[in-house]
Amino acid sequence: MTIHLSPSILAADTTALGAAVSAAAAGGADSLHIDVMDGHYVANYAFSPKTVEDLRRVTDLPLHAHLEVANPDAVLHLFAAAHMIIVQEDTTPDLGATLAAIRRLGCKAGVAVNRNRPVEPLLHWLDQVDLLLVMAVEPGFGGQPFDDSMLDKVRRLHAERAAGPGDCAIGLDGGISVATIGRAAAAGADFFAVGSAAFAGEPAAALRTLRAVALAGTA
Ligand code: DX5
Ligand code: ZN
Repeated sequence: MTIHLSPSILAADTTALGAAVSAAAAGGADSLHIDVMDGHYVANYAFSPKTVEDLRRVTDLPLHAHLEVANPDAVLHLFAAAHMIIVQEDTTPDLGATLAAIRRLGCKAGVAVNRNRPVEPLLHWLDQVDLLLVMAVEPGFGGQPFDDSMLDKVRRLHAERAAGPGDCAIGLDGGISVATIGRAAAAGADFFAVGSAAFAGEPAAALRTLRAVALAGTA
């Protein structure tokens, strides 16, 4: 069982982003999660393509651009420096075309599903995406409480993946902490975007503890 930890820099001090990224790397981060918000799809603003390009110069960690924007198809090309582009499934009229466009950029492809949306339509894509990301909070802000009922979606995805050829990661984004990551891993999630719980204190120690608790949850 491998656990993928993707610290979300939304919770980092952006005046010292380089130091935050180094600390996350020292703690064994598997990638960095970069939330992009446009003030339309969500009532908040967050990072831009320049953040991805700048981080690419200072870290070897894979960079995941999580597009929480109204029209991702129009801006995908701006994120070609990312290793993975994650789109919200309800923001694209043709998910297959969007995933193909992401692949043409040379990026891995992830799909996120909101709390109020069913996961069943996404089962079809399990063997065609690198990450299926279940949102456990409303997109837009860090520090919100984890919605436990989303674990049913994780269990469903886990069962479906086990029955098929796909090896896509099953992830959770929002509210992941030492209090929630154990039961999330037990439900079958193996990928976690972690904001506040990674950056509120010392990131390296926080990530090591999160990984230990997640692994204990799968034991
Ligand atoms: C929310 C973002 C999350 C956020 C998670 O819209 O997609 O990635 O950073 O933050 P926490 O872990 O604090 O809930
Ligand atoms: Zn995110």
